[in-house]
Amino acid sequence: MAGNGNEAILKINNIEVRYHEVILVLKGVSIEVPAGGIVALLGANGAGKSTTLKAISGLLKHEDGEVTDGGIEFLGERIHRLEAEQIAKRGIFQIIEGRRVFEHLTVEENLVVGAHLRPSGLKERLDMVYHYFPRLRERRNVMAGFISGGEQQMCVIGRAMMAQPKLMLLDEPSMGLAPLLIKEIFEIIQRLNREEKIPILLVEQNVKLALTVAPHAYVMENGRIVMDDSSEKLKENPDIRDFYLGLTDVGGRKSFREVKHYKRRKRWLA
Ligand SMILES: Nc1ncnc2c1ncn2[C@@H]1O[C@H](COP(=O)(O)OP(=O)(O)OP(=O)(O)O)[C@@H](O)[C@H]1O
Ligand SMILES: [Mg+2]
Repeated sequence: MAGNGNEAILKINNIEVRYHEVILVLKGVSIEVPAGGIVALLGANGAGKSTTLKAISGLLKHEDGEVTDGGIEFLGERIHRLEAEQIAKRGIFQIIEGRRVFEHLTVEENLVVGAHLRPSGLKERLDMVYHYFPRLRERRNVMAGFISGGEQQMCVIGRAMMAQPKLMLLDEPSMGLAPLLIKEIFEIIQRLNREEKIPILLVEQNVKLALTVAPHAYVMENGRIVMDDSSEKLKENPDIRDFYLGLTDVGGRKSFREVKHYKRRKRWLA
């Protein structure tokens, strides 16, 4: 079992996902997130990480995608046939890639939108979000379109917090942010997990960071989970070190040729 030994609240059982009925993108993916845990999902571009998150949150349907085999259970209930709205009502929130704030609303209005499923106790929850994100308190009356990328990322995480999530799905929160901001945001993510007891499934291209934040990680390649282990063990794994922690090129990813070399070499493992 994944993570900290607690029982899994989310169980993805061998799912297949297709887009437009024919394009098979996930080819049997199984992942568990334990109560109170942080689990990382790693993998190269196009591996199927965002698709996995969308399968959980129900957002797949908006892209004409469908879980065509296997199933997803959240707190013992099968959820993969539910509409996104129904899944959100059960407490699952996905922070999608690319920080979508409502640009023409103020920061505070963005946060209030997040509370629409649970409007009671609004003031307390705003205070809770501002406690974790003091920058958002400072910027509360500014249009969200005018705040920095890092502040927008804080704003979308804060908006999800307003809904009192039971599981947060984060898709590449570090993307395009300066290192200091990434550090700040990840410290807050860890505190939200620890102090507010929010379980997190984290998709992240910054593997070093992900393996530091999450005690357990899955590695996905071409629509399949190819490794699943504690982050400590994964950090020692020669393939992970070589391919994901090698960081030889601009932007931290190796060239395609090296990737192919990695794939060739990998056949000797297993
Ligand atoms: N709406 C869609 N219709 C058809 N194919 C799609 C759709 N969305 C994604 N795909 C395909 O599914 C595969 C997995 O995409 P996905 O976005 O899940 O990968 P990812 O691991 O999140 O990649 P990245 O690191 O680039 O974000 C890709 O080959 C992609 O082209
Ligand atoms: Mg993605």
